Amino acid sequence: MITNDIRYVGVNDHQVDLFEGQYVVPNGMAYNSYVILDEKIAVMDTVDARFGEEWLGNIAKVLDGREPDYLVVQHMEPDHSANVLAFVERYPKATVVGNAKTFTMLGQFFPDAPEMKQLTVKDGATLTLGKHTLTFLFAPMVHWPEVMVTYDKYDKVLFSADGFGKFGALDVEDEWDCEARRYYIGIVGKYGMQVQKLLKAASTLDISIICPLHGPVLKENLGHYIEKYDIWSSYRPEESGVLIAYASIYGHTKAAAEALGKELEARGQKVVLADLAREDMAECVEDAFRYDRLVLASVTYNGDIFPCMHAFLHALTERSYQNRTVAFIENGTWAPAAGKVMAAALEKSKNLTFAQEKVTIKSAMNAETMESIKRLAEELVK
Ligand code: FEO
Repeated sequence: MITNDIRYVGVNDHQVDLFEGQYVVPNGMAYNSYVILDEKIAVMDTVDARFGEEWLGNIAKVLDGREPDYLVVQHMEPDHSANVLAFVERYPKATVVGNAKTFTMLGQFFPDAPEMKQLTVKDGATLTLGKHTLTFLFAPMVHWPEVMVTYDKYDKVLFSADGFGKFGALDVEDEWDCEARRYYIGIVGKYGMQVQKLLKAASTLDISIICPLHGPVLKENLGHYIEKYDIWSSYRPEESGVLIAYASIYGHTKAAAEALGKELEARGQKVVLADLAREDMAECVEDAFRYDRLVLASVTYNGDIFPCMHAFLHALTERSYQNRTVAFIENGTWAPAAGKVMAAALEKSKNLTFAQEKVTIKSAMNAETMESIKRLAEELVK
């Protein structure tokens, strides 16, 4: 129970191998859905395709013989919308509530859908259930163009769609910040401007509870979560620290990354080392956004950079990586080119400060490269 009238009817997924086809979720995933009980009853979103029966069972328990009047579809991505038809088949008298884009996507995802009762709402429209009046606020690109969030003034609840979501099922305890950050940067990170708009709109509302589509319902200390979202969506570094992300084949580039790490730690800096070929890419991307400085260390490979470094840089630029200091370490046995390639990949990124010292290793570290690494450490501390 979330409030007297609002009940949780979502599901936990411990079967998923990769969320959205790419994210490892060691603690599973939750697809949240809610029922608002009033004179009229509204169900907020559905769940992933594999959990339709469980979800309908959860709803039936909460309804206790009553019939729902509305299904509000805030987001058409299938992790939330896959069971719209199953719902309409079970409750044919219910009206599906969405906006014009919602219904276009519904037609695309379900080309053979039978006729269903539909209510198309505009930005700012309201729907009265009784005591509860729902206001729909469009939040395009947080995370798809049809997304809307819903405010219930009576219980002061914001149904925030993917906003304030997190990886992890709800029957596993883990820290919010870490998995919410990895989720945000990975999935919504590109759309900071749109999240800023939503935060501005939300700041005019009196909110006591946030009900997202993933992760726990947030009831306390809302300022903490809103502050994190403000930092992430404005692309400000969250903490002072250096991520050293490396792509190494035989360990020589790794040795340089580690040597720099030691030099920085000796100077009192927080350092995180990431082996791009072996660690979860989403975690590496998350850390790049978390800290204020980034060192990219790569071997030269086919006159280019190692594939995992390519993937990493692409993931950063795709998410508008900006406002940070970046340094390069390159390695190459006969024609080191990695530094140039990495710099070119970040050419269009906004407000990056590049370190003057560029470390070039030819095959393995030596006394000269160690001096270069020390100079880089000095520069990164300034
Ligand atoms: Fe949780 Fe954008 O879907």
